[in-house]
Amino acid sequence: MTTSFAPRIFSGIQPSGGLTLGNYLGALKRFAEYQGQGAETIYCVVDLHAITVWQDPEKLRHNTREVAAAFMASGVDPEVSVLFNQSQVSQHAELAWLFNTVARVGWMYRMTQFKDKAGKNSENSSLGLLAYPSLMAADILAYHATEVPVGEDQKQHLELTRDIAAKFNHDYGVDFFPITKPMIEGTATRVMSLRDGSKKMSKSDPSDATRINLTDDADAIAQKIRKARTDADPLPGSMEGLQDRPEAKNLVNIFAALTGESADQVLARFEGQGFGAFKPALAEVAVESLAPITEKMTRFMADPAEIDRIMGRGADQAAAIAQPIVERTKEIMGMIRSR
Ligand code: TYM
Repeated sequence: MTTSFAPRIFSGIQPSGGLTLGNYLGALKRFAEYQGQGAETIYCVVDLHAITVWQDPEKLRHNTREVAAAFMASGVDPEVSVLFNQSQVSQHAELAWLFNTVARVGWMYRMTQFKDKAGKNSENSSLGLLAYPSLMAADILAYHATEVPVGEDQKQHLELTRDIAAKFNHDYGVDFFPITKPMIEGTATRVMSLRDGSKKMSKSDPSDATRINLTDDADAIAQKIRKARTDADPLPGSMEGLQDRPEAKNLVNIFAALTGESADQVLARFEGQGFGAFKPALAEVAVESLAPITEKMTRFMADPAEIDRIMGRGADQAAAIAQPIVERTKEIMGMIRSR
């Protein structure tokens, strides 16, 4: 018999400093869109993940509030969704430990994010960085989440979450954890660097010109788009014509994701035109979409106590869901219930 699980969406963002247009289009914008569509929505600032590489404590506090502000500025409504900080709900760390006994070390070494972040000297990386996907599985499965919206780069981690759920269910002869479905949807599942169409737009890239930050003002956004790497050819009438033009393809995808059109619809309008015409139009839609978000973020950040209050309430709501699930997990594994 297969248990059926109520539709529940979970996703998280690390407060490891500075959010980009990639985080917005690949995640935040979509999080808001899933609200009120039938599934319960639970969103989390994953501070326990951020500390797998060293964080300055004062900056971590600032960044945690800033990500909370970004969620709300992007339209995540704490009256509709559960919105909270990971470290305030102890069930995440507790379930991650239980999963550390289910997951295999070899699975962790295979993760490309671990290889990228650990670099050449992986022996010297934190144990937490290696076990990161086990905590991510716990984030999701502590809520019996059925669907997880993320960008393309998180696909491998979500496969591992499925592996952990399946192995737990198999090892203990239960059908307790759902096999979560990744939601990697839309035209912006992998927003690329503005300077190199083969690299992901990332907050950790040393060059600020490669990305648009959610805190950039209108001038900075327009200037970065103007300087974005492109080619000299005119735009074709459909995406097929952009196969070998990664930088052009990226800008068209960004345009489409910002306006909610398909990339082909965007190209139908710009067919035959060059980047001299396309870039100013893109800068205009980017500023139009992002300026209100930046402004709302600034307003939220002016009242950190209010952010903390909202996140505290979210943590209580989250714990009320996760606590019985983690209790039951422990019971399944043979632990005696506390009184
Ligand atoms: P993080 O904090 O790196 O990124 C947050 C979200 O933004 C997406 N994203 C992008 N999407 C498109 N193009 C880009 N250039 C781009 N850069 C980032 C990411 O795919 C992600 O959806 N491990 C996760 C955080 C996490 C999590 C979870 C996610 C922890 N627990 C449970 C889902 C469910 C991470 O590091 O995301």
